[in-house]
Amino acid sequence: MIKKIAVIGTGVIGTGWIIRCLAHNFKVIAYDKDPKLKKKIIEEIRRASPFVKKLFNKKKINLKNFQYVTSLEAALKDADFIQENATENYKIKTKLMNLIGKYAKNNAIISSSSSGLLPTKIYSKCRNPARTMIGHPFNPVYLCPGVEVVAGKKTKTKFLNKANKFYKSISMNPIIVKKELPGYLADRLQEALWREGLHIINEGYATTKDLDRAIEDGPGLRWSLMGTFLTFHLAGGKLGMKHMLEQFGPALKLPWTKLKAPKLSKKLSSRVISGTKLQAKGKSVAMISSIRDEYLVNLQKLRKKYEDKLRK
Ligand SMILES: NC(=O)c1ccc[n+]([C@@H]2O[C@H](COP(=O)([O-])OP(=O)(O)OC[C@H]3O[C@@H](n4cnc5c(N)ncnc54)[C@H](O)[C@@H]3O)[C@@H](O)[C@H]2O)c1
Repeated sequence: MIKKIAVIGTGVIGTGWIIRCLAHNFKVIAYDKDPKLKKKIIEEIRRASPFVKKLFNKKKINLKNFQYVTSLEAALKDADFIQENATENYKIKTKLMNLIGKYAKNNAIISSSSSGLLPTKIYSKCRNPARTMIGHPFNPVYLCPGVEVVAGKKTKTKFLNKANKFYKSISMNPIIVKKELPGYLADRLQEALWREGLHIINEGYATTKDLDRAIEDGPGLRWSLMGTFLTFHLAGGKLGMKHMLEQFGPALKLPWTKLKAPKLSKKLSSRVISGTKLQAKGKSVAMISSIRDEYLVNLQKLRKKYEDKLRK
């Protein structure tokens, strides 16, 4: 049975997992190569607590279930489920997974939050690869229910199913990806949009604010209830996707998009950085995060009502 969770690497994503797991009454033991992060994590738990309690109808987040240690071995020795969240880099992760494999219990499950690295590669030096996989979440992990579960070539299905069950027990909706691929699913889609946005800014057609509004007031409003495919089915009128493909299929050949990323030149970086700074209007990342968190809680409560109608 999964009782104790080890969170390895406690930056943005690791801290998010800590909060989600604590909110679901798991014991959490955390480790980061930077031993001074404990205070920051506690501050973030306190900031996010009201939103998490509201979303999951909890009275309190029990900090007694949280422990921060300064040795990887100590973090792993009793852990039933290990969620790794170190910097996104093949060399760092492969080395770390080798150590995690050494110190983990024989029956522990090991999952990585990687945003797009191949599990077969990052676990190539890990003992017991049958029990390893990717569990790619979305920021903020404590509020977003999505997690992409990706097996490596040596992962055994029974452990993938165990991870799936665990993620469901912390109120997530796992998607089991059929085969490992770089970037998995959501980040491939996000990156296409991101790449195209950078081209548009580079060529001076719009500001970061214009591009954000283009999503916020159009596709983004629909996307939290329906993804691209079901949305386009409705765009085809009463014949649905069939008419949609007949009408807009030829536009795929024009083509509207550039596909290859632009060079991140100094000019482009400074346009993107100054554009988003203007959009932040002097508010700190923590202040904007709290506005986003309150919105995400209310949005999910509203969405539940419509999801039930749509998906039954
Ligand atoms: N930021 C996002 O939106 C997001 C979303 C989904 C997944 N991810 C993935 O989550 C992982 C972490 O991303 P993040 O945004 O939290 O990064 P981050 O920079 O905020 O945190 C990374 C942490 O890992 C620690 N670290 C580095 N090497 C380590 C090691 N060998 N042992 C222990 N700790 C180590 C660092 O000290 C740092 O605290 C990455 O794989 C990333 O791709 C990020």
